Amino acid sequence: MMKTLALYGLTLAFFFLSGAHSARITFTNNCPYTVWPGTLTSDQKPQLSTTGFELASTASSAIDVQAPWKGRFWARTLCSTDSSGRFSCATAECSSGQVSCNGNGAVPPASLVEINIAADGGMDFYDVSLVDGFNLPVSVATQGGTGECKASSCPANVNAACPAELQVKGSDGSVIACKSACIAFNEPQYCCTGAYDKPETCPPTNYSQIFEQQCPQAYSYAYDDQNSTFTCSGAPNYVITFCP
Ligand SMILES: *[C@@H]1O[C@H](CO)[C@@H](O)[C@H](O)[C@H]1NC(C)=O
Ligand SMILES: *[C@@H]1O[C@H](CO)[C@@H](O)[C@H](O)[C@H]1NC(C)=O
Repeated sequence: MMKTLALYGLTLAFFFLSGAHSARITFTNNCPYTVWPGTLTSDQKPQLSTTGFELASTASSAIDVQAPWKGRFWARTLCSTDSSGRFSCATAECSSGQVSCNGNGAVPPASLVEINIAADGGMDFYDVSLVDGFNLPVSVATQGGTGECKASSCPANVNAACPAELQVKGSDGSVIACKSACIAFNEPQYCCTGAYDKPETCPPTNYSQIFEQQCPQAYSYAYDDQNSTFTCSGAPNYVITFCP
């Protein structure tokens, strides 16, 4: 009994000292259509209990993550299951053949929410990234927590402003996603590689400016200005909204 209590006390002390906490991430679908969110845990860590699920229009769903945690979220659109039982999506596909992504990331273009909870045991960092292109509007907000804790939103439909050379079209001919210039052209000045691998040598381009104008709070390319990353400390709740 004493031994068990002592062990329990040690475990509790460990949790408090290491600052471990869990955060609840709630997904809300404000789009007038069903979306299929995907989750990816970074750095070869075990994946979350859910790596993909269906979220009907107006529905919400939550998952808990144990801090520290780093990874990304996105939503697939226009998904279906074929006659052989293989699940696939027209945008942000994770190529698992299932609703679960099972450790696969999104095939670009995909609007991404990146969250780094208790990075180095300290603050949370989060952003909306269009570096891999855009498929649907999305926002990320914290509830609780201390510090700046501002919401980051990309509420615009970038597909409507997407130039022809970046467009991805659906079977009905409508624009369903917008590639980043890096994905579309794979050139160093758009991907910030080679001689362009520093913020000083990789300025915004006419293409990244389209994303920046539509969604000024989101990352429009790899070396976007530093006002696209948001911070908060100890936020117990995150809310990710599709079509905010
Ligand atoms: C962007 O600039 C490139 C290179 O100068 C040019 O070929 C292209 O037409 C421009 N595109 C847009 C949408 O302005
Ligand atoms: C971030 O900075 C860019 C240019 O420096 C500006 O155009 C944009 O509006 C800024 N975004 C926010 C959210 O303040």
